[in-house]
Amino acid sequence: MNILVTGGAGYIGSHTVVELMNAGYHPIIVDDLSNAHYRAVDRIGKITGKAPAFYMANCTCKEQLRHVFSQHKIDAVIHFAAFKAVGESVKKPLEYYRNNLDSTLTLLEVMEKFGCKKLVFSSSATVYGPNNPYPYKEEMPAIQSTSPYGWTKVMIERILTDYCTAHPDFCAVLLRYFNPIGAHESGLLGDDPNGIPNNLMPYIGRVAAGKLEKLTIFGGDYDTPDGTCQRDYLHVVDLAVGHLKALEYAQAHEGVEAINLGTGNGISVLELVTAFEKANGIKLPYVIGPRRDGDLPAFWADAAKAKELLDWEAVYSVEDMCRSAWKFAKNASV
Ligand code: UFG
Repeated sequence: MNILVTGGAGYIGSHTVVELMNAGYHPIIVDDLSNAHYRAVDRIGKITGKAPAFYMANCTCKEQLRHVFSQHKIDAVIHFAAFKAVGESVKKPLEYYRNNLDSTLTLLEVMEKFGCKKLVFSSSATVYGPNNPYPYKEEMPAIQSTSPYGWTKVMIERILTDYCTAHPDFCAVLLRYFNPIGAHESGLLGDDPNGIPNNLMPYIGRVAAGKLEKLTIFGGDYDTPDGTCQRDYLHVVDLAVGHLKALEYAQAHEGVEAINLGTGNGISVLELVTAFEKANGIKLPYVIGPRRDGDLPAFWADAAKAKELLDWEAVYSVEDMCRSAWKFAKNASV
């Protein structure tokens, strides 16, 4: 089966392409490399022993997407390609709305033209917004977010829901990710953002590698057991496998379905720092600083629906996540 993977050179996309290839699928990567590196595509080839099909193309460009669809009979699409930095989205809302909405609309139009009716969409736990109680359940109202980035996910979920109403034979699975961390066991693929990382684990990796002086923990006075924020961290390989399960589900179903991908457990920033130190035998310099604007004190997934509908649950431990993240970070280029 030919699976178009937009954003397939990125952090989650590249791990998903590896799992697809290992399972016998034929992924076709479309990525404009605006926030990814071609070396990830090379490394997918090294890990799997086979170079994946790759097109350097931008999903907002209908011509480029049409070209890809005309070269391969695409059976289903996994749509990762998007701008994803929460803080940047606050400063550049138009760019975020334009890019994330346009790419999805263009993709849907081209899919429709070529009769492709199966889509797995990269959504986020951010769609639960600041007011829902945790653990987050899929049936909770997902009608708000805390940043333009998050709002693009809310809006795209709405667009896909409306599209499925108009096209009852279409299937869209909306995967709401919690906090993916960790890296491929080979140490060849991982989260390697350009510039100073915003997210916790790549920041920890750079501190451990001596590229950044110390970690600042954003806030130590939250109403949580140790005062630091709690999140549902899951291994990126577990997340990648969740996409294969969602693909199988989409093959057999019609309509729209939102599904959480998380472990169902919350752990704090301090607990993650301690787990990283223990797993890797490293001391991480850190200070407790002020809170970061927009951070919620705590949230994690109710992971029951993924188990029930996809027969998926996270299998990797926090220690696995920390060990693999460090294996990647100590060899990362930046
Ligand atoms: N943190 C620090 N120091 C850092 C970076 C992060 O203390 O240098 C803390 C944050 O305050 C937060 C936790 O680590 O408590 C996790 O922060 P991340 O930036 O790694 O992740 P977020 O939970 O803020 O964001 C994630 C995804 C977003 C998504 C959001 C809401 O990265 O895409 O969850 O679902 F929108």
